[in-house]
Amino acid sequence: MRDIRLKEGVSNMEYVKIFDTTLRDGEQAPGATMNIEEKVRIALQLEKLGVDIIEAGFPAASEGDFDAVKEVAKNITKSEVAGLARATKEDIQRAWEAIKYANKPRIHTFLATSDIHLKYKLKIDREEALKRAVEAVKFAKKFTDNVEFSAEDACRTDLDFLCRVVEAVIDAGAKTVNIPDTVGYITPMEFYNIISTIKKKVKNINKAVISVHCHNDLGLATANSLSALLAGARQVECTINGIGERAGNASLEEIVMALKVRKDVYNLATKINTKLIYRTSKLVSQITGMMVQPNKAIVGANAFAHESGIHQDGVLKERLTYEIMTPESVGIPQSVLVLGKLSGRHAFKKRVEEMGYNLTEEQLNKAFKRFKELCDQKKYLYDEDIDAIISEEILKLPEKYRFVYLNVVSGNKTVPCATVEIDVEGKIVKDVAVGNGPVDAVFNAIKKIIKTKSKLLSFVISAITMGTDAQGEVTVKLEEGGRQVVGKGVDPDVLVASAKAYINALNRLAFKKEVSQNKEMLP
Ligand code: KIV
Ligand code: ZN
Repeated sequence: MRDIRLKEGVSNMEYVKIFDTTLRDGEQAPGATMNIEEKVRIALQLEKLGVDIIEAGFPAASEGDFDAVKEVAKNITKSEVAGLARATKEDIQRAWEAIKYANKPRIHTFLATSDIHLKYKLKIDREEALKRAVEAVKFAKKFTDNVEFSAEDACRTDLDFLCRVVEAVIDAGAKTVNIPDTVGYITPMEFYNIISTIKKKVKNINKAVISVHCHNDLGLATANSLSALLAGARQVECTINGIGERAGNASLEEIVMALKVRKDVYNLATKINTKLIYRTSKLVSQITGMMVQPNKAIVGANAFAHESGIHQDGVLKERLTYEIMTPESVGIPQSVLVLGKLSGRHAFKKRVEEMGYNLTEEQLNKAFKRFKELCDQKKYLYDEDIDAIISEEILKLPEKYRFVYLNVVSGNKTVPCATVEIDVEGKIVKDVAVGNGPVDAVFNAIKKIIKTKSKLLSFVISAITMGTDAQGEVTVKLEEGGRQVVGKGVDPDVLVASAKAYINALNRLAFKKEVSQNKEMLP
């Protein structure tokens, strides 16, 4: 391994392509299903963020995936739009049908190459795999020159065979060759060695870009990706907040900020506008309902919070003592008091636009109405409140069930009792239930109306800003028939927030049942 301690003062930085797969591998995270409108919103934000390639989905997986990829392709102009396809003519043709609307379409075809996958999953030998990989790339080339090939489970593939596959698919016309650590097994030194060996042994390697795609099963996805970049990879596949299958994918924000903060080590640049990282992270967690852990690097709530007295004292004297990057550099806003009871629609619209939202008049009117209602309940409103209003009122899934009314009687000497009204597909249904506590009573009343068989896996309440009049944010995780979903609800009344979160999760469950019939096809 070469000495990575580079000299101060870096020049002639090479450039790394950022391939974002939040909408494809990210969506494979349990509970992260998104509808078409939500995918387009995220794609537009990714484009603003500056990602080079947006992997919009896996068109052959389901009608829903196909339509979402097509819609993303139609809306994105600057970034490339990739569609995933297994190494079959049907999948590749289907991927092309969806991505052909993009300004810069890319077909991303994949085939497993490790002996474990060949023997147990595909039941073919190495020669057959090589043949299929080449055929797939040649077929994809009939539609576009922009073809990427991924050797699934590359890191557990015999290295000589992997080199043969890479050379053959480049000869067949692949412009990008991706080396995924599909099961999150590799370590940074080993990965450095794999990429260096490919660079050294594959004769035509300079005709393609080497890409890497790491999973986080051992918590090494970012470290492995960075190690591969040091060895010569020039495309990195990642997701916002690191969401993805199992323990997730390499996190975009961690890789980009590591390259930026430690350019003395990596000497590599990206086109990412890092000031939009936080907003993008928020959008993805709001839409997927997957909360970012507080201690998550770069975007976690505590990532820039200095708790100990010694640290606080140091930072006050000189930020550099304990801060390697500023919260501003990733776009973390201070909790600024923005608007209040007397603010008009114009001021609200301006703030919403400053925050990066692009709402239609109808959406804006709806959000403004909710904002005014909130002003009657809460003295001060912060950016976080506006975020919550927009994610609650605007970015929601198609609603089968809509919260209408809640009344709870509770106290230390009474049996908690809740009355709930829900609009079920246009019909108002009301019921009453008691419970072991007020939340239990609320949930029991909702269950009487919706008759769900789902199991409650977790229930978390937090305050989104400071003060006792802060809005409560409730997150509810449910499971039914192997499907997991996360629902959110926000309201100054934590019981109303709880009811909204539960109903939101039940809507997600209903939505997921409809769209996920073909999940078993996913890689
Ligand atoms: O993890 C993986 O191997 C993948 C490929 C389809 C690139 O997601
Ligand atoms: Zn993957």
